[in-house]
Amino acid sequence: MKNITLAIETSCDDTSISILEDIEIISLKTFSQIKQHAKFGGVIPEVASRLHSDFIFKIIEEAIEDSGISFEDIDRIAVTGGPGFANTLQIGITVAKTLSLILKKPLYDINHIEGHAYSAFINKTIDQIPKKAIVLIASGGHSEILIKNEWNFEKIGGTKDDSIGEAYDKVSKVLGYGYPGGPILDNISSTTTEDEIKCPVSTLEGYQMSYSGLKSHVFNKSKKNNINKEGLIKGFQTAAIEQLILKVKKAIIEFNINNVIIGGGVSANSLLRSKLNSIDNIKVYLPKLKYTGDNAAMIGYLSAIKIKSNKIKPVDLKLDAEPRRKM
Ligand code: KG4
Ligand code: ZN
Repeated sequence: MKNITLAIETSCDDTSISILEDIEIISLKTFSQIKQHAKFGGVIPEVASRLHSDFIFKIIEEAIEDSGISFEDIDRIAVTGGPGFANTLQIGITVAKTLSLILKKPLYDINHIEGHAYSAFINKTIDQIPKKAIVLIASGGHSEILIKNEWNFEKIGGTKDDSIGEAYDKVSKVLGYGYPGGPILDNISSTTTEDEIKCPVSTLEGYQMSYSGLKSHVFNKSKKNNINKEGLIKGFQTAAIEQLILKVKKAIIEFNINNVIIGGGVSANSLLRSKLNSIDNIKVYLPKLKYTGDNAAMIGYLSAIKIKSNKIKPVDLKLDAEPRRKM
C-alpha cells in the first residue's frame, strides 16, 4: 500500500475519518451527532466540540481497522481547517497535528467548502473533473454560487441571510417536525397528496439569494388555523429550490458554461436533483448520497488530487482553525 492519507473532518456536527490509498477511499467512518443536537433543534457548538473530543479516537480506530492498514502505513494527514465552528475545527486540527508530529508525516490543510465542491468526483480520476463549471454549494452553513476555473473558484453570489439548509431546519422546527429538517421536509413534499400552498420566490438581483423572507412567510402562514401543513411544506420546498435553479440557469447563460457541480447537505434534495437533471444541454455532477453531508472522504480526496497535481504544500504545526475562511 502506498500514499495512504488519513483525513479528518470536524467542522460541524459530524466526527468523520477517512482513509485513502492514493485518491481512492478505502474507509469512511462518521459519527453523526444529530441525535444529541435534535432536542435543541440545531447544532450547539459547545456540545458538538465535547462530542468530537469524546468520539474522535474511537472513530479513528474504527477507520483504521476497517481499512486494514496500521498506523505506521499512514503517509500523510489531511484536515479541515475552515470554515466551520472554531471549537469543533480545533479538535480535528489538534488531533491531526498530534498524528503528524508523532508519525513524522506531512499535514495538509483543506477548505471545507472546496471539499464539498469536489465531493461529486470522489473515487474518480482527475481527468474526469471538468475544468470549467458552475458550482452550487447548498448546505446548513452555506448557499453559494461559484465559477470553477481549473483549481480556482470565484464566488459570484450567495445568500445575504439564512442558508437554504438553515431555512429547512428552522421551518421544520416551527412546524413541529424534527432535526435536521431537510430530509424530513423533502420526504413530506415528495410523498404528500395535498395541494401545494404557493410560496414566494425571492427576486433579488444578480446572484444574491435570500431565505429569510420565505422562512417568515411560512412561519406566518403556519399560525393560521386549519393550515394544511403538508401543502405548506410542499410550497416551501418548491420556492426554496426554485431560487437555486433560477440562479444556476442564469449563470449557465451568462458565463456560457454547461457543467454544473453541486455539493453540500442540500444536494441530497430530491427536487433539486430532478430539476437540475431536467435542464437541457448541460452536464450535472451530483455527489453520491453518502457524500452529500459533511464527511472526511471529500477532505481526503481533495488533498490527494491536489498533492498528485502539485497544487498544495504541507503546513506546519502552527495551523489554526479559520472559522470564516472563504474559498
Ligand atoms: O453539508 P451539511 O451536512 O453540513 C453543513 O456544512 O452545513 O448540510 C446539512 C444541511 C442541513 O441543514 C440539512 O437539513 C440539509 O443539509 N439537508 C437537506 C436534505 N438533506 C440534508 N436539505 C434539503 N433536502 C434534503 N434532502
Ligand atoms: Zn458542509
